[in-house]
Amino acid sequence: MTIVSPSMLSADFLHLERDIQMINRSEADWLHVDVMDGMFVPNISFGFPVIEAVAKICTKPLDVHFMIERPERYISQTAKLGAMMMNVHQEATVHLHRTIQEIHDAGMKAAVTLNPSTPVSVLEDVIGDVEMVLLMSVNPGFGGQKFIENTIQKVKRLRHLIEQSGSKALIEIDGGVQKETAPRLVEAGADILVSGSYIFRAPDPEKVISELKAL
Ligand code: DX5
Ligand code: ZN
Repeated sequence: MTIVSPSMLSADFLHLERDIQMINRSEADWLHVDVMDGMFVPNISFGFPVIEAVAKICTKPLDVHFMIERPERYISQTAKLGAMMMNVHQEATVHLHRTIQEIHDAGMKAAVTLNPSTPVSVLEDVIGDVEMVLLMSVNPGFGGQKFIENTIQKVKRLRHLIEQSGSKALIEIDGGVQKETAPRLVEAGADILVSGSYIFRAPDPEKVISELKAL
């Protein structure tokens, strides 16, 4: 079964409680939470006050994706929220190994995220230290963008690196995951699918989540 992490970025912020309750009822495994700073990415999403409110009612583990410069500044604040996973971009933190250690010391699982232009080879020396790698299949910053086709080959390259190194890291994909791309990603070796607009814009989001899980 595929792990499904719906992206809150595509929820209706005027009815956020309703949408989180839908996720709670659904077969979704995690809730994907996108934090943006207007520097690392052009957009700004939401910050800690909003995530704290969501964490109070969300029964699914939080998969927090930081699209911010120097995410290491917010490790303890993220741990206090009770987040399960902290995703940091390789491009946004200079001392990646130290950041991974600090995420672990704070009691969270650590994931490294790669932009579409960053090769998987940059992970060679940390792949044994992370629980997950998040491959961006769009340029981060916005929901509803077109899937970048090169991601399929990239998943295969990452799967190869993980197998070669004996790492237990899971592979998560984020961006443009929908009906057509999801099965091909799973086939290529993806373990976790993040999906925003495809789930939240569907007439029956719970059904879409079940369909993704069944892949
Ligand atoms: C984009 C975010 C994604 C976004 C995905 O920068 O990291 O999590 O919500 O949205 P969709 O699934 O609509 O491409
Ligand atoms: Zn994301």
